[in-house]
Amino acid sequence: MIFQMKTALSSEAFARIDETDDRLFYAEPRIVTHIDDNAIAAIKEFFDQTLPRDAAILDLMSSAFSHLPEGFPTQRMVGLGLNRVELQVNPALDEYIVHDLNANPQLPFDDGEFAAVVMTVSMQYLTNPVDVFREVHRILQADGPFIVIFSNRLFPTKAVHIWRVTSDAEHAELVQHYFSLAGGYVEITFLDRTPQTDEYTDPVYIVMAKKI
Ligand SMILES: C[S@@+](CC[C@H](N)C(=O)[O-])C[C@H]1O[C@@H](n2cnc3c(N)ncnc32)[C@H](O)[C@@H]1O
Repeated sequence: MIFQMKTALSSEAFARIDETDDRLFYAEPRIVTHIDDNAIAAIKEFFDQTLPRDAAILDLMSSAFSHLPEGFPTQRMVGLGLNRVELQVNPALDEYIVHDLNANPQLPFDDGEFAAVVMTVSMQYLTNPVDVFREVHRILQADGPFIVIFSNRLFPTKAVHIWRVTSDAEHAELVQHYFSLAGGYVEITFLDRTPQTDEYTDPVYIVMAKKI
């Protein structure tokens, strides 16, 4: 371990500069992308290679874009996030729900309802990540992947302390640790899918695991 996890997971680890209700911060819609085009292309390629086709998929902490490849066949694509307008305009979603995971980590879905769950560039905003990872495990089907993708941008006032003071490599360790603490996941894997290009690109890091 690069840093001491016991310290990392104390309650101070999840403190934020802005502790006001998250719904206030996300009240105004941001119809924007949160990473650059190279990073988005890498995520689309990864989803194309990894996500089950014609299946029920949940996009956790979703917004106006889910980064599914155009025409990717889904049986049911559900988004959960904090801004209704962003979710309404997301072209990938069949359904959406506004739900504050920091106020209530319990997911409003049945056991085994999804074949896969994705969470893109939002990990740093969860204040109860292990509870959320346990809930994702509950709503996944057996063998279903939970794919957590992160980069290096953030809204600093809403990111948890531990994320703000650690490096990309430590973020990868931290997310793997959340999977281990949640329990019931196997094949916990880190992948660096940062595009190989001469231009500047946002990095693309992935930690994923499967429900046993
Ligand atoms: C940086 S955006 C990422 C959006 C999208 N996943 C993407 O890849 O572009 C962070 C998202 O996290 C969601 N979010 C932040 N705090 C949340 C919370 N407490 N509960 C649920 N969603 C939250 C917001 O709705 C916002 O859309």
